[in-house]
Amino acid sequence: MSEIVLKLENLTKKFGNFTAVNQINLEVCRGETIGLVGPNGAGKTTTIKMIAKILRPNSGRILMRTNHSELEDLQHVSSTVTQIGFLIDIPNFYNMTANQLLRYFANLQKYPKDKINQRINELLKLFKLSDWKHEKVKNFSKGMTQKLGIIQAIIHDPEIIILDEPQTGLDPLARVEIRKYIRELQALGKTIFVASHMLYEISEVCDKIALINLGSIIGFDSVENLALTLKTSEVNAVLLNPLNASELDPLLKRLTENLNPYLDKNLDPNISKIPIKYFPEHQGLKVYFDGKSESKGEILKILIREFESDFTVISFTQPKTSQLERVYAEMVKDNEINEEGE
Ligand SMILES: Nc1ncnc2c1ncn2[C@@H]1O[C@H](COP(=O)(O)OP(=O)(O)OP(=O)(O)O)[C@@H](O)[C@H]1O
Ligand SMILES: [Mg+2]
Repeated sequence: MSEIVLKLENLTKKFGNFTAVNQINLEVCRGETIGLVGPNGAGKTTTIKMIAKILRPNSGRILMRTNHSELEDLQHVSSTVTQIGFLIDIPNFYNMTANQLLRYFANLQKYPKDKINQRINELLKLFKLSDWKHEKVKNFSKGMTQKLGIIQAIIHDPEIIILDEPQTGLDPLARVEIRKYIRELQALGKTIFVASHMLYEISEVCDKIALINLGSIIGFDSVENLALTLKTSEVNAVLLNPLNASELDPLLKRLTENLNPYLDKNLDPNISKIPIKYFPEHQGLKVYFDGKSESKGEILKILIREFESDFTVISFTQPKTSQLERVYAEMVKDNEINEEGE
């Protein structure tokens, strides 16, 4: 069994009354690649800044395993930080050349002076930036700057690499490149923690994904398991006319009563708290049901017969498989709706 190298325990960060990170628990094992995925403002950067000790948690702890030792509270250890490499925010590199910049960071991290040059050359070569060694960074393209940011994060050969949105602002080809570099770091046995709002971009290279929304972790598992456990049977009925907002609640209540025998009795609250939902933007009803074909038939009959005076169904479809992407979008949405209602 692989050992835990980074552990977040009930980690919480508030800005005034606002809770940006809410009681987060996460464990990262040696050699794992973990994705922290959530929409803008979810609390990803705040979490990473606490690990980097740029921000101080209001409560909770960050534990780290220094080489051959026990897990230690990061607040009490200063030396451990050099075992981590960070890419946080879009790097701002002033008026230096790539070489000067990397040398600066290597010195900052106390990388052995006699080995710095070789290390810089190796990494520039790996990231195909060798020809740019003595160019001013301000002349670099966005993608090159981002690659340099990653080199900066790993210049001192840390065991744990933490990247905040490494693919920000990059075109699809450059994003593929970044994934390739993440895989190369994996091959070296590094532990990687990467934050992104692009689930698809990151899920491919991650062993596990922690879904974060509104400061809380709403799922933490392998991509396959997340998709599996969050899998649900649903049908979508598109309506001819939009439903009247003022009549929505009683209508949903009647629908729930009428369709009750066919609804999903074990609906995962992470997916939805209620079995029937109305999406005004699609003019559609989503019904989480027990997955049986017969039930589907009965549901359609009831929608048409019993609700004839309420709406007209113009399409009735069951999405193929619960793609993680879609589930993620839904979970996030559901969480937001609940938050508003509280
Ligand atoms: N210094 C701060 N003062 C007040 N609020 C802050 C501060 N930093 C972050 N926040 C708020 O905390 C929340 C989480 O921000 P954070 O930057 O962690 O999100 P994120 O998940 O990294 O989002 P993005 O995908 O946009 O990078 C946001 O609502 C943000 O406005
Ligand atoms: Mg961020």
